[in-house]
Amino acid sequence: MRLSVPIIQLKLFRILTAIALTGWQCPALSASETDAYAFTAADIVFLKTFSLSSLPPPPLAPSNSYANNIRAAKLGKSLFFDLGLSKGEKFSCASCHQPQQYFTDGLARARAHGTARRSTPTLLGAAWSPWQYWDGRKDSLWSQALGPIEHPGEMALDRTSFAKILLQRYGDEYRGLFGNTPDLSAPQKQASPLGDAAAIENWESLSDRSRRQINRVFVNAGKALMAYQRQLRLPRARFDRFVDSLARTQGEKDARTELASILSQAEVEGMRLFMGKANCASCHNGPLFTNFEFHNIGAPEPDPERVDLGRYSGVQTLAADEFTCLSEWSDAGPTQCEEMRFLKRAGAELVGAFKTPTLRNVAATAPYMQAGQLDDLAAVLNHYNVPKPPLYDREQHPNRPHFDILPLKLDDTEMASIAAFLATLTSHYPEDDIWWNQ
Ligand code: HEC
Ligand code: HEC
Repeated sequence: MRLSVPIIQLKLFRILTAIALTGWQCPALSASETDAYAFTAADIVFLKTFSLSSLPPPPLAPSNSYANNIRAAKLGKSLFFDLGLSKGEKFSCASCHQPQQYFTDGLARARAHGTARRSTPTLLGAAWSPWQYWDGRKDSLWSQALGPIEHPGEMALDRTSFAKILLQRYGDEYRGLFGNTPDLSAPQKQASPLGDAAAIENWESLSDRSRRQINRVFVNAGKALMAYQRQLRLPRARFDRFVDSLARTQGEKDARTELASILSQAEVEGMRLFMGKANCASCHNGPLFTNFEFHNIGAPEPDPERVDLGRYSGVQTLAADEFTCLSEWSDAGPTQCEEMRFLKRAGAELVGAFKTPTLRNVAATAPYMQAGQLDDLAAVLNHYNVPKPPLYDREQHPNRPHFDILPLKLDDTEMASIAAFLATLTSHYPEDDIWWNQ
């Protein structure tokens, strides 16, 4: 099996990975004793699969017919930064996903109206992922966007108030895109199926028609937020310039000075380890350095009293979600929702498994792991070098859950060069356009 698959083939790739991760070794780059910058033709082909130059546009999204609509993306951008769409006008998506910090917040666990259980992931690259959240409990960016709006710890606005405020502030844009705006003057109270007891009661007392009208506005806002996130672009990082230069010159000896001016010898050494001996590329692969799969790597349990079951509980939440690709709010026909149709719903390997995060810009987005348990890249590498067996609830899960990594036996210099390599994946923040100049 080849590791170097273009991202378009990721579906097949993910299936194969799921079946055969254990025992699968990454085809190491050929080691060079004498010249750090010497690569074979096969190495170059392999490395190219990691370059941003190989990244296709975000995959088709049949559940959102506005996915590539620029006007929807512009509306989504306004919504993303609008504090007025939260309780007390205090928080927006950008409070936690700060563009200047690669759409993260630098915190171990996100904070807004409350403190979240998990840490804020970057949004750069999220448009390519079939699942959203660390446990993949959402199957699209539009459905994901509806979560934080109503979440009591995040933006904490009930669905009805959200729909009303949105139409007040963005009525013209909304009408231009989605057609008529409903008259929402009748529902007077805060009403939402996910709020506190009073909000739920109010929601249940609304007419079916009102509930559907509110849901329609809510869903369309999610679709606009998704369209915005699909426009976010990653400029090439030093790593990409290195690989592109290597591909252009096919590793000719004369080009070595150019290569050496882009990546240092230690960074190249770290790249070889990452792709080979340290096996990182078996999960962190493709131009976004992720297979978008779920794995248990035994990251230290942040709260042993309340073990995070990761994907295991994520699939259950997903199966009960009212806004999936298979729902009435989706623009897709049921046969187009392949991810949901082939969803793996159970199995010991889901316990404590989290979505492989992108490593793009990772050096700038500490702390690390699903709850920010590890402070810096040195701690991450120490973890991979000597992993500790994961915690799990023996009564609930008598079968030992899958543990997807093995000790690496790297020395300190090797770990430091992998960390140095990871820093070459940082794209420069485009001052003038906050990742999308429209
Ligand atoms: C309180 C801070 C906070 C706010 C506000 C917030 N998020 Fe998040 N976001 C998070 C956290 C924390 C996670 C991960 C939660 C988890 O996995 O359980 C997350 C996850 C995501 C993801 C999934 C990314 C991935 O790779 O899995 C997307 C997309 C996202 N948020 C977009 C948004 C949008 C759009 C908004 C506004 C409507 C928003 N967020 C508001 C903190 C926040
Ligand atoms: C078996 C698949 C797998 C392998 C192999 C693997 N990773 Fe990971 N990596 C993951 C998953 C899954 C997470 C998230 C785990 C969590 O949050 O509990 C992760 C998280 C990370 C993070 C934290 C990123 C963030 O934004 O929080 C870094 C850094 C990282 N890995 C680097 C590496 C390096 C370096 C190697 C090789 C030494 C490696 N990984 C090997 C799957 C893998």
